[in-house]
Amino acid sequence: MALTEASPSFPQTPQTEADSTASEQQPASTVLRILHRPRRLRRTETLRRMVRETVLQVEDLIYPLFVMEGEGQREEVPSMPGCYRYTLDLLLDEVKEAYDLGIGAIALFPLIPHEQKDNAGTESYNPDGLIPQAVRAIKQAVPNILVITDVALDPYSSEGHDGIVHDGKILNDETVAVLVKQALVQAEAGADFVAPSDMMDGRVGAIRRALDAKGWINVGILAYSAKYASAYYGPFRDALDSAPKFGDKKTYQMDAANAREAIKEVDLDISEGADIVMVKPALAYLDIICQIKQHTHLPVAAYNVSGEYAMIKAAAAQDWIDEKKVILETLTSMKRAGADLILTYFAKDVALMLQG
Ligand code: PBG
Repeated sequence: MALTEASPSFPQTPQTEADSTASEQQPASTVLRILHRPRRLRRTETLRRMVRETVLQVEDLIYPLFVMEGEGQREEVPSMPGCYRYTLDLLLDEVKEAYDLGIGAIALFPLIPHEQKDNAGTESYNPDGLIPQAVRAIKQAVPNILVITDVALDPYSSEGHDGIVHDGKILNDETVAVLVKQALVQAEAGADFVAPSDMMDGRVGAIRRALDAKGWINVGILAYSAKYASAYYGPFRDALDSAPKFGDKKTYQMDAANAREAIKEVDLDISEGADIVMVKPALAYLDIICQIKQHTHLPVAAYNVSGEYAMIKAAAAQDWIDEKKVILETLTSMKRAGADLILTYFAKDVALMLQG
C-alpha cells in the first residue's frame, strides 16, 4: 500500500471516473509487447458497469420474516441484530415497507408457543393457526406481494425436529402425511408458494398431488432440494426456539461433504413437481449452486441463512469489515454462482443500497 507514497517518482494514477481518457500515450520504450490487457476494461466505472457479468437486482430477493402471537410488539433476535419477530399487526407494516422497496416475495416462519407444540406438529395444520392468519392478513393488506410459506414441523415440534419422532428416529412417511395437511391449510389461506424445508423423502410429490386434487393448481412449490445439515442455522433456531431437543438433523438433511447427492435430490424434486429448487445454506455451498444451475432449467434459489447474516453483523459491529460492501459482495457471489433468487435477511438493506 505504501508503495506510491514511498516512491514519489512512481506515477500517480487516478483511481476513479476521472481517469476517463484512453488517449494518454506511453513512451514506446516502456511498452510491453502484450496483445491482451484485461485492465483496459477496468479503467473507469462506466466501462466496468458495461462489461459487468452479474447484476444484483431487488427483483432477485425474497425476504424471510418471523411472526409471533400478540399485538403491537417486535422482539429483536439476539443472534440476528436488526432482525425481529413481529406480531401480525407490525408484520403487516414490515411487509408493506418491503413491497414499497420493490421486494416481490416474503417467506414466513412462525414462533409457536411451547404449549402448542407436540411430537406430531398438530398445530402446523390448524386452519386458524398463526401462519394461515398471517397469510390471509398479508394477502388482504398487500395483495401483490408473493407469500411463501414454510412446510416443516420443527417450529411446531416439541422435539424440535422436522418430522415425527419415534424411538429416537424421524419417521418419513407419517411425517409426509402431516406436511401435506400443512401445505393444504397454507394454500387455502392464500399462499402463493409452499416451501417444504423438511427434507423428508417423497414430500414434494405428495404435496403436489394433494394440491392438485383440491384444485390448487396455481400454488407453486419452492423445494428446499439441497438442504444441508448445517451449523449455519443456529441463529434461526434461536429466533423460533426450534433447536432439536436431542441429536441433530443428519438423518434427513444432507452431509456437507456431498455434491453429487445434491443433484440427485434436485432431480427427485423436479420429477415430483417442484417449480423452483433451492440450495441451502448459500455461502459455503456456492459450488452446489453452480452445479445445479448447470443441471436444471428451473429457477434456482439460494438461502443466505441466519448464520451467514450473523457473521457479517458481528464483524461489522466491531468495525472489522465494511458491512454494506460485504453484503453486496456476498450476495453478488451467490448470483454469480447461479442463483436466480436469494432469500436473505438483508433484503431491505440491499433494496435501499441498490436505490443508491
Ligand atoms: C426448518 C428451517 C430451518 C431454516 C429454514 N427452515 C432450520 C433448520 O432446518 O434447522 C434455516 C434458515 C436460516 O438459518 O436462516 N425447516
